Amino acid sequence: MLEKLDQIERSATSALSNVEDEAALEEWRVTYLGRSSPLMRIFDGLGQLPKEERPDIGRRANEVKRALETAQTKKGEVLRQGALAKSLQTERLDVTLPGRAAPLGRLHPVTKTLREISRIFAEMGFQVYRSRDVETDDLNFQLLNFPPHHPAREMQDSFYMIGDYPEDNPILLRTHTSPGQIRAMREFAATNPEDPPPVRIILPGMCYRYEQVTARSEIQFTQVEGLAVGKRITLSDLKGTLSDFARRMFGQQVQTRFRASHFPFTEPSAEMDIECFVCNGNGCPVCKRTGWLEILGCGMVHPIVLRNGGYNPEVYAGFAFGMGPERISMLRYRIEDIRYFWANDLRFLEQF
Ligand code: PHE
Repeated sequence: MLEKLDQIERSATSALSNVEDEAALEEWRVTYLGRSSPLMRIFDGLGQLPKEERPDIGRRANEVKRALETAQTKKGEVLRQGALAKSLQTERLDVTLPGRAAPLGRLHPVTKTLREISRIFAEMGFQVYRSRDVETDDLNFQLLNFPPHHPAREMQDSFYMIGDYPEDNPILLRTHTSPGQIRAMREFAATNPEDPPPVRIILPGMCYRYEQVTARSEIQFTQVEGLAVGKRITLSDLKGTLSDFARRMFGQQVQTRFRASHFPFTEPSAEMDIECFVCNGNGCPVCKRTGWLEILGCGMVHPIVLRNGGYNPEVYAGFAFGMGPERISMLRYRIEDIRYFWANDLRFLEQF
């Protein structure tokens, strides 16, 4: 019987050395330590043995059982370690793999141009003043020296609101950013009506005109207005500021020229051209062979407008200008059709 126990121990130990995974280990346990294993049979049969053999056999059987259990635990541990090492090897997560890129948004080309204009004027000491998109006729026109039925209104056909508004002062979508001049001057003047502070602002924003939509004109577009009012402002300040703006915006070499023009709210009035940066002034399709590109309208603030803003034209003078960022973007990026800007076509927008 003792010999049988030795044999059980030997064959169990050698079988264990061939076990290679958890399932095989469980099988081994059933075979050598399970209910119907030879070892358990010996335990079951202890009672039938002669009394004097029982202690020795019992002790030895217990010894074998404990030895096999210990071996099983050890083997289990070895197998678990091996499995872990193996999974670390084969299922390694490669964190250096590039991720899937999330599509990045971007700024609208007009926003980019607007920001650049704002940056340049900020460097020259101009603050951004925001005015409203919905205006009254008096601010959009009358206080800017466009009386009712003035022919200059022809250039700015308007979207009027239908409603119960005074006939001589209807509501409309602003046709230009110039009404912001009046709002800003009145706000500044209100802080000290006897001696109003100087004004140096730009007014960016959307404008609306009831026009036929073509490659060159849209019913909505942005403008950047500029206004400087003070006690000693002259036409040379206007020319110096705007020429410097052109150099900062389009390059230090750029030439500018001022052509006489007309706006009811400035006197004198001018339009500023820059030398065509596509052909350097030699003449090309972009500048229609003139060598010049029209960039903005400008002028000295009309005395009536100063007075409407709360500034005494005997004491104060100012200059104003207005430009269209879409037009500037079209020239810079050679965009041929203004309708692309608000058509919301990603194939266009993703190019900027
Ligand atoms: N408001 C004018 C326009 O829309 C532009 C302008 C602004 C001209 C300020 C002179 C001074 O055409």
